[in-house]
Amino acid sequence: MLRVNQAGEYGATRIYAGQLAVLNPSSPAAKLVARMAGQEQRHLARFDALMAERRGRPTVLQPLWRTAGFALGAATALMSERAAMACTDAVETEIDRHYLAQLDELGEDDPELAADIAEFRDEELEHRDSARAAGSEQTIGYPLLSEAIRAGCRAAISLTKRF
Ligand SMILES: [Fe+2]
Ligand SMILES: [Fe+2]
Repeated sequence: MLRVNQAGEYGATRIYAGQLAVLNPSSPAAKLVARMAGQEQRHLARFDALMAERRGRPTVLQPLWRTAGFALGAATALMSERAAMACTDAVETEIDRHYLAQLDELGEDDPELAADIAEFRDEELEHRDSARAAGSEQTIGYPLLSEAIRAGCRAAISLTKRF
């Protein structure tokens, strides 16, 4: 679980780094992305710490997520500000499902980890809702873009579970 979560939060920081490299820094979209990116940094730092504490093995796919995350963020931001929001909307929708499944699987087994996951999940849902409030669903081609990104997230999760 920690391997996937650490990789996912790392990927999130890379997506937002890609978007921030493209978006006009004074735009409302850039300010929203910067705020969300700060929360992803905090999520990542927490999973980094747990990983070290529990001597887990990080994914070997980190270099891939480094590049793919940045590329996804930059590409969507180049399409439009709304497409950048559609990216967050899609990613957080999958992350919500992923964290919810983990909470279900953990049950009462690991309250420390479950508390972190529950807290982060709330913030991911906030990100999703902020992206929708900023017009993600009005992106041209939204259903297709959204489904493609969601499929990419699911593939990334299942690859990271294995490697
Ligand atoms: Fe996060
Ligand atoms: Fe997030």
